[in-house]
Amino acid sequence: MPVADRVEEVRKQISELAEAATTAQDLMQRMVKLLHERMLKYNWVGFYMLEPGAQPPMLALGAFVGAMTPHTRIPLHQGICGAAASSGQTVVVDDVSKDARYLACSLETKSEIVVPVFVNGKVVGELDIDSHFPAAFTAEHQELVQYCAQLVGKKLEACGQ
Ligand code: SME
Repeated sequence: MPVADRVEEVRKQISELAEAATTAQDLMQRMVKLLHERMLKYNWVGFYMLEPGAQPPMLALGAFVGAMTPHTRIPLHQGICGAAASSGQTVVVDDVSKDARYLACSLETKSEIVVPVFVNGKVVGELDIDSHFPAAFTAEHQELVQYCAQLVGKKLEACGQ
């Protein structure tokens, strides 16, 4: 199946998940599983959420699928994860070995995307995906992952965690 068709199919399945999920936590758990199963180059898929009230602000590992990571809590000044959360921008790294910010999770990881999740205009967390393939996150993948992060933000706005 061409990648564009697969992206389109997964996008539809994700929309259905968002309609069926009763809580944001439920949606995040089902979403990481679906993305990991269906998108063959998404080798680690997980959410980091800002810990409420933590000073300094801290990202904490939430729902994920893939190998356990040593980075269960990440301050905002560290990692690709910290960069995405503190800037409120999607960060795509085509070759993690060339990015000094990168915090290693697996030796096999070659590229990474991190997309912030917003609730009422504020960053509350992010969706982080690692790939064993270099430059895996082309524009159509970015669009899909941003769509996923948006749906989680909307679900959090609608019904909280
Ligand atoms: N690579 C991330 C850390 C999280 S692990 O990939 C799961 C980073 O640089 O922030």
